[in-house]
Amino acid sequence: MKLFVTGGAGFIGSNFVHYWLKKHPEDSILNFDKLTYAGNLENLKDVETNPHYTFIQGDICDPEAVHRAMQGSDVVVHFAAESHVDRSILDPSLFVKTNVEGTAVLLNSALEHKVQRFHHISTDEVFGALPLNSELMFTEHTAYHPHSPYSASKAGSDHLVRAYFDTYGLPITISNCSNNYGPFHFPEKLFPLAITNLLEGKKVPVYGDGLYVRDWLYVEDHCRAIDCILSKGEIGKTYLIGGMSQDIPNVEIVKKILTLMGKDESSIEYVKDRPGHDRRYAVDWSMIHRELGWEPTESIDSGLAKTIEWFQTNESWWKRVKSGAYQEYYKKQYET
Ligand SMILES: NC(=O)c1ccc[n+]([C@@H]2O[C@H](COP(=O)([O-])OP(=O)(O)OC[C@H]3O[C@@H](n4cnc5c(N)ncnc54)[C@H](O)[C@@H]3O)[C@@H](O)[C@H]2O)c1
Repeated sequence: MKLFVTGGAGFIGSNFVHYWLKKHPEDSILNFDKLTYAGNLENLKDVETNPHYTFIQGDICDPEAVHRAMQGSDVVVHFAAESHVDRSILDPSLFVKTNVEGTAVLLNSALEHKVQRFHHISTDEVFGALPLNSELMFTEHTAYHPHSPYSASKAGSDHLVRAYFDTYGLPITISNCSNNYGPFHFPEKLFPLAITNLLEGKKVPVYGDGLYVRDWLYVEDHCRAIDCILSKGEIGKTYLIGGMSQDIPNVEIVKKILTLMGKDESSIEYVKDRPGHDRRYAVDWSMIHRELGWEPTESIDSGLAKTIEWFQTNESWWKRVKSGAYQEYYKKQYET
């Protein structure tokens, strides 16, 4: 099988490429990625000579480039996106362009090439927020109510994907997952920022009162869930993927990181909250469990321990990301 993966140089995409090549060594992957600030080919150093892996630098908003590259692909797995909420508050139009228009370009190309499956990766943030201290959870039937330009643009892309199934019969599946964490996580996000700041002897910034609840999903568990959906998922269906069974506020998770790294709470620095900050997300992942037999294998404690260990042993990776030096890698590797 030939997979066309978009955004494979990003956090989840690169974990997926590693996962897939290991789990399905007979398949081949074409990674189509624009290499924005979030795309880092150093994430894929150890697979770049694998004959089953090809990289093409390209923009999902460029119909010709997408059409050319997608030729001969059986399955599209679409990760590419502008993904950072804070950045979407500063520049919403880029999010509309990449996340909505780019997805439309891919859908058109997938139709033309008659791919067997178009799997779209989305987020639980399309559902908006839930009240703190409630039992409510997002399910596959929750109405969309996005709050940030990021989640609104992802919601737009989800609707488009579904519309291509309803209108043109494109064989799609969608997954809306919760917050991922694990290896290759860009250090502007909460966990890797906390871990790398502590490794550098700095404080950990926590927004507002820190009483924000998220569902945290270890990235390899996410990759396994996508694998399940690709092999057993029902065409046209949406699956929710989450990693937790109970609420834990962000500040408590930061305290877990502090404990695992031998630090105390004096390393926390409370910073000004961001506008429209959603209070609570909770994902009911019982449908994918019931129908496809998937469940997360990592608890938050085991997943955090693995993640901390990865950052401790991959210091040069995150130092180069924090300093921006990783952006030179592509030039050296591919443009000489
Ligand atoms: N990270 C999470 O916790 C999380 C949670 C839920 C859903 N998601 C979704 O999963 C997907 C991947 O997220 P991530 O955290 O790995 O993102 P990321 O920001 O780490 O990576 C995004 C990748 O897409 C590429 N890209 C951006 N614009 C592009 C374009 N126009 N053309 C081609 N490539 C482009 C970037 O270069 C980068 O490699 C996204 O669709 C995101 O919405 C992420």
